[in-house]
Amino acid sequence: MIRRFLTSQLFVSTRFVSQYYSKKKILVPSRLGVTPGNQHLQVNLFDDENKQSLGRMSLNEAQKLAKFRELILVLFDESHDPPDVRLMTGKNLAHIRDETRANKKRELSNEKIADFALRLRPHIADKDLLTKLANAKAAYAKGCSIRFSLDFGHSIDEKETEKLAARADDQKAFLARLKPHLEEFPKVHTNSKSVRSIILIVPSKLLAEKSTKKTDKSADVQQGEAAEEESKSIDIEDKNINISRNIRRKSMIVLKRFYTRPILRRILYPYRTNATTTQRKSDPFNIEYDPIKQAIIYPPELIIQNKKYPTDSWTNVNGHILSRIGQNLHQRKNHPLYHLTNRLRQHFYQYYDPRKLSPKFSIIDDLRPIVTTEQNFDSICIPADHVSRTKTMNYYINKNTLLRAHTSAHQVDLMRSGLNAFLCIGDVYRRDHIDPTHYPVFHQCEGVQLFNKEELFIENRNVRGDKDYLQIFGPNEYRDATKQEGHTLEAVKLVEASLKKTITDLFKNLFPNAATLNSRWVDATFPFTHPSWEYEIEIDGKWYELLGCGIMEHSVLENSGLSKDHIGWAFGLGLERIAMIMYGIPDIRLFWSNDSGFLSQFAFDDSTRAVRYKPISIYPQCINDLSMWMGKTIIDPSDFHDLVRTIGGDLIEQVVLIDEFYNAKKQRHSQTYRIIYRSMDRTLTKEEINMIHKDIEYHCKQQFGVEIR
Ligand code: DAH
Repeated sequence: MIRRFLTSQLFVSTRFVSQYYSKKKILVPSRLGVTPGNQHLQVNLFDDENKQSLGRMSLNEAQKLAKFRELILVLFDESHDPPDVRLMTGKNLAHIRDETRANKKRELSNEKIADFALRLRPHIADKDLLTKLANAKAAYAKGCSIRFSLDFGHSIDEKETEKLAARADDQKAFLARLKPHLEEFPKVHTNSKSVRSIILIVPSKLLAEKSTKKTDKSADVQQGEAAEEESKSIDIEDKNINISRNIRRKSMIVLKRFYTRPILRRILYPYRTNATTTQRKSDPFNIEYDPIKQAIIYPPELIIQNKKYPTDSWTNVNGHILSRIGQNLHQRKNHPLYHLTNRLRQHFYQYYDPRKLSPKFSIIDDLRPIVTTEQNFDSICIPADHVSRTKTMNYYINKNTLLRAHTSAHQVDLMRSGLNAFLCIGDVYRRDHIDPTHYPVFHQCEGVQLFNKEELFIENRNVRGDKDYLQIFGPNEYRDATKQEGHTLEAVKLVEASLKKTITDLFKNLFPNAATLNSRWVDATFPFTHPSWEYEIEIDGKWYELLGCGIMEHSVLENSGLSKDHIGWAFGLGLERIAMIMYGIPDIRLFWSNDSGFLSQFAFDDSTRAVRYKPISIYPQCINDLSMWMGKTIIDPSDFHDLVRTIGGDLIEQVVLIDEFYNAKKQRHSQTYRIIYRSMDRTLTKEEINMIHKDIEYHCKQQFGVEIR
């Protein structure tokens, strides 16, 4: 039992084909975890820090001690009975691990065993197949083990029986086509088989020779020759190989070169500065990734715009996101969001208040996006257990402070300051999925108008006759689908009419062809309004939701100190979405572009000018999939999106979870994500993308404990 447990802890990297076939274990000191099954195991504990033996004890006790002293429990020598276990600092463990791994790798490479991996797809042309096989044979002759991965495309749902049957036929046919070629290898094992792929392994000739002819001198000579040849075989390169170990090693070399070449580093710098690794010390917020603790390490305080915020277990912001604060695209001259903000301003300024001799609506567009949970949620009646409060949906600075998820966060403060009609415009932050229309930072405009009895009934030209009997509040009013408790239906209907007229007027102004567009009001639910609606317009047969709105919950007014004499409407609209439709901008990331090709198209003073964005040019997408076996926990896609965005920055166009399943035999969960890379302003090189992709793989392993498939 103990052996099995320990061995499983120590057996690292069976995926490396030649190691697998040489049955080599890389013995790397391993952290020890305590499970109910092993808690009573006796171990010999050594205190590495104070260099003293702590004697024999149960693994459970050792673990407690480690926890108490904030050290790591490391299995050191399993051959002793009881096994040697040490208490270490993470730093020391990392050091020893790296050294042991490096030694072992060196040892393995001294044995001159290399891998050669190649991927074959069923529609490969005969000519290409023969070239690939010829390369494989050459590599085999030089002592490589060969890994064929036959790739049949996407996974198929078990319920899609017809597709499954067709896939099985494809696999059979392809294997039959390969068979005559594979017969030239003495041994071919099927390593794994699934609907997606079949992995075939040809063990290295050297290993076979080594084990059978250990004492044969001539064989040794032969092997020596082969080994010598193999050292040249590093040059064997199949251009079509995708997941080749050799290539991987090569790309690591390329990677190093990238880091040390100043020009390339400068090109890549903007995309990498904010990623959180230990190497990237350049993070201005001192957020770092600790590979030992396998966690993002935050400093005790984050300094954002010269203000200090203590961090805690809720902190989940990253440098990439924090660097957006203060950019205020909506205030940047010649930016599409600036023009849109101007148009909103112009439109709402036309509503005039004759009593104050000034515009009715105040426009506030410079409030800091760092708010309290009270502002973002409690003040507008979002319940304590509402999903919108979770860490997976928001960027928290600490338990009580976050980057506002909507401009509604300022409703109560602005009403309390005495405003009764206002727009509040600003950047908002959400941990969202990534695609051409979603970005973790975008801009919103909140609109609020309050009415007292006079404004609603007496001054309202649409209400004729004796108005004295009309009231906003009544003692016997109950809540139903049309209104809140306390509100009279006539008050609600007048406010609803005002809201809907304001919004339709606005869109008539923004879209010159609004009269020809279909639009509709869809019933909706928000914690801060009742009744609530969404406004949608139809463009080219597709319905676009432009905003959410409704009659403000009276308790929101109460939170701002207003008593039972006011009623109001509110709306919240997303600026990017409207600008994308108005100007025909195809991708939300363009709003963050500093490319003059983009900005120059908006370089004009008259914000009412009708322009259509002309794409600068279309650069190719590059699609890379990432399949992983989950570790202890299943990755939440929003965590994955965040990590990808942190590492790849704006080169990430889209991230989609394309496949997820549970393998009952292995008792493991698998997820496959498709990452689409595309730069908005240049063609990306394969090396560049590989480098980022490798980085993502590495950090996934570190952060989520996954195994890349
Ligand atoms: N705050 C909502 C959001 O971000 C939008 C919204 C809906 C704002 C309804 C409102 C409203 O003021 O009444 O999704």
